Amino acid sequence: MKVYAINGSPRKNKNTATLLQKALDGVKEAAKDKEVETEIINLYDLNYTGCKSCFACKRLGSKSYGKCAIKDDIYEVLEKVSQADGLIFGSPIYFSNITGQLLTFLERLLFPYLVYDKNYSTIPPKKMPTAFIYTMNVSENLMEQVGYPEAFNKIEYTIERTFAKPLVMYSNDTYQFDDYSKYESSAFSEEAKAAHRKIQFTLDCQKAFELGANLIK
Ligand SMILES: Cc1cc2nc3c(=O)[nH]c(=O)nc-3n(C[C@H](O)[C@H](O)[C@H](O)COP(=O)(O)O)c2cc1C
Repeated sequence: MKVYAINGSPRKNKNTATLLQKALDGVKEAAKDKEVETEIINLYDLNYTGCKSCFACKRLGSKSYGKCAIKDDIYEVLEKVSQADGLIFGSPIYFSNITGQLLTFLERLLFPYLVYDKNYSTIPPKKMPTAFIYTMNVSENLMEQVGYPEAFNKIEYTIERTFAKPLVMYSNDTYQFDDYSKYESSAFSEEAKAAHRKIQFTLDCQKAFELGANLIK
């Protein structure tokens, strides 16, 4: 069994990556009687572009039908994740959206599996359970007020149509700097952020662990 976490954050040991690792720990725990392989794929380590609209994936009779034909660093990743038993996407929120790097990856992953037939059917080689972990500066209340969950629904819906409805979790009010005193950050209370990290982020780690365990149940 193989489960991959796709890290859409440039940071490899901060909020998003930490929660993705917890989720993979949850997968391992829930599948401890099985052979399970987990891996975090750090998108910012890879050189790739978004979909180039070449439509090789839609060309009838082409060997690329239903596959992305662009040969860059993502090509092998797409091969690998297409055979996964679970996929967990993680992203910080940048300007009210997932990061460009993750969105670009999702174009390459999802578009080839979308068929331009009357039903817009989907043809992934394998259906697998999925999850999405979002981390962001705003509080849970503000997130609801500004409609982030509804906005994120759009990409979740495409993932659902392709693989399966993602399990979703949000981590709010994240701690952004190692040392707040070194940065202009008067918009925030460092004290409140630190307290939130200590209590709520610890709970979020547990939630991510459970999300991972539930993913493969
Ligand atoms: C370029 C940039 C844009 C951001 N935009 C938002 C935003 O629109 N809303 C928000 O809640 N947080 C925003 N943030 C904060 C990050 O989403 C948040 O700190 C996140 O948890 C960072 O994840 P990481 O620690 O895994 O890198 C932004 C951060 C950066 C660097």
